Order: sequence, then C-alpha cells, then structure tokens
Amino acid sequence: MAALRTGVLGCAGIARRRVLPSMRQYPGIDLVAVASRDPDKARRTAAEAGCEPVHGYDELLARPDIDAVYVPLPAALHARWVAAALRAGKHVLAEKPLTTDAAATADLLALAGRRGLVLRENVMFVHHSQHRAVGRLVADGAIGEVRAFRAAFAIPRLPDDDIRFDPALGGGALADTGVYPVRAALLLLGHHLQVTGAVLLRDGAGTGVDIGGTALLRTPQGVGAHLTFGLDHAYRSRYEIWGSEGLLTLDRAFTPPADHLPRVRLEREGAVQEIVLPPDDQVLATLADFTEAVRAGAPADPVIQRQADLLDAVRAHASAG
Ligand SMILES: NC(=O)c1ccc[n+]([C@@H]2O[C@H](COP(=O)([O-])OP(=O)(O)OC[C@H]3O[C@@H](n4cnc5c(N)ncnc54)[C@H](OP(=O)(O)O)[C@@H]3O)[C@@H](O)[C@H]2O)c1
Repeated sequence: MAALRTGVLGCAGIARRRVLPSMRQYPGIDLVAVASRDPDKARRTAAEAGCEPVHGYDELLARPDIDAVYVPLPAALHARWVAAALRAGKHVLAEKPLTTDAAATADLLALAGRRGLVLRENVMFVHHSQHRAVGRLVADGAIGEVRAFRAAFAIPRLPDDDIRFDPALGGGALADTGVYPVRAALLLLGHHLQVTGAVLLRDGAGTGVDIGGTALLRTPQGVGAHLTFGLDHAYRSRYEIWGSEGLLTLDRAFTPPADHLPRVRLEREGAVQEIVLPPDDQVLATLADFTEAVRAGAPADPVIQRQADLLDAVRAHASAG
C-alpha cells in the first residue's frame, strides 16, 4: 500500500519532539505538510520535519493531497478540529484526550463511522510490547488470582503558561495525566470497570485547574483499581498488579523511550525476580497501528469511548464528594 499522505494541525511540543521525527522515519507515512496559526512557526517546524509549511489549519484540511491528519492541539480544541478534519474527508490521529467529555467523544466517533473514516486517539503506551508481556505473565498465573491494581502517572510542574494550566484549553491533571492510569486499568482489568470514588486536587496557585487526583474503580468481581495522577508532583510512571500469590510491578510504564530496557519486578514466595524485556518504540508502534487501521478500514475502537466515560465519571464523583 502507498504511504499514507499525512498533515499536522499545529506545531505542538509533542509533535516536534516525538511524533514528527517518527513520522519521517516510518515508511507507512508520507509527511506532507504541517500547519500553524503562525506562518513563521509553520516554516520552522516544516524545515525541521522535512515537509511543507501551511499557514492555517483550514488551509491544510482543504488540500486534496492529504489523506490523514495528526491533531496535537490543546484538548479543548480537539472536538472542533477533529470534526473539521473528518468533514474534509481525512482520517484522524488525535492527541489524548480525544475530547474533554464523553458526549463529544461519542459525536466524533459517530461522525467518523458515518464518513467511513478512521479516528484514533494517540495513547501510545498501549502499543508497547511490555504490556502484552505483563498480560501473558498474569494469564500464566505468575501472581495467582488478581486481587488489586494500582497505577500512577504524574509529572513535575511545568511553566505557568503551559496549556495544562488553562481551563479554557481543557487543562488539568485528570485530562492530561489521568488518561494514563485509567487506560492502564482498562487494558489490564478489562472494559467493565466502574468508578466508585474520586478526588481532584485544586491548584493552590489559582489557575482554576485540578493539579492532581485519585480515583477508585472496581471490576464486576470487586477487584479494586487505585489510580493516581498529577501535574505538580514528583515524577511517577508505574503500575502494579497484586495477586493471591505474588506482586508484579512495572516502572516507566507510560512514556519509555525507544531504547529503554523494560524490567518487570515479580515478587513471589519471598523472592524477587527481575524480568528484562526487549525495548520497543511505542511511537512507531502507534503509527503502525494507525496506518494499518486505515488500510483495513477498521471500525471504531470501543476503548476510546469507555475511557471517556470513566474520565467523566471520575469528574462527577470528585465534584459530588
Ligand atoms: N501522547 C503523548 O504522549 C502526549 C504527550 C504530550 C502531550 N500530549 C497531548 O498533545 C496535545 C498538545 O500538547 P503539547 O504539550 O504538545 O502542547 P503545546 O506544545 O502547547 O502545543 C499545542 C499547539 O496547539 C496549537 N494551538 C492552537 N490554538 C492554541 C491556543 N489557543 N493556545 C495554545 N496552543 C494553541 C499551537 O500550534 P500553532 O501555534 O502552531 O498553531 C501549539 O503549538 C495535548 O492534547 C496533550 O495532552 C500527548
């Protein structure tokens, strides 16, 4: 199949640091153009990425030589621009969170379905092979029956003008970092999770966003998932699965670089074993998943809606508490 002719809406940090270099490297994608609100920024980013600059997102969407777009805009702008891209007939890889509420997510997925287009959310960690290895260990009985799950993703505070501290742009820890532990719980415990309680921590600096939070979820069998996330915390990127016979822990769970050697820590019967796994490039794996979905005309991935529903439920529990 010919490479997927792809454009980018916005010269975002994540695009410049991680996604555009991988798009250049990945043979399944032909990076055609990058658009910005600012023509100079478009020129600089396009020069780095080896593609054409475009001034304005609508101008990029109007181009007939582009089949798909990557949307790394602030979260609150995703719904508008993903819808515009779908209406222009483009497949879409949108940054996480796909939207800021579950109803808007349902609308976009329905629009993509009606137009026969692929819409994926750029949650890259799920494509890293380390989680499949963890899943196999659990299925093979390495820790016995699963009794509890904990996951945490939190980062140190960024400068005050970062999009994550602007409520109007969809900022806040739940939207930005909460996605990771919620998605990890869906990946490792299945889709029938329900939120039973949650707290969100308001930013003491008065930005109006939540800078952290904790949620308790449960499976239909009563296995609990304790999830923590934050934007003003000591760094943590980890999950653990606690079973009737052992405990399995994975560090660097969510944003490992491509050369990272994953180490699964398995505690069982008083002994600790470290299982070293092969490195993997989760950015390239995500691009492969997206282009394969386009090639195959894949239907919507139901996990996107489940995740959006759970994020809404966390918000609702936290505001009720
Ligand atoms: N998957 C991951 O691992 C990962 C990692 C980090 C971030 N993200 C997600 O990627 C998205 C962007 O995050 P980021 O940290 O890369 O953001 P960023 O560096 O601030 O970039 C956002 C871009 O959006 C465009 N934009 C349009 N309207 C804007 C407005 N009113 N204010 C600010 N920017 C505006 C700007 O591009 P122009 O000026 O060129 O038009 C800007 O460069 C978010 O959804 C975030 O959650 C994902």
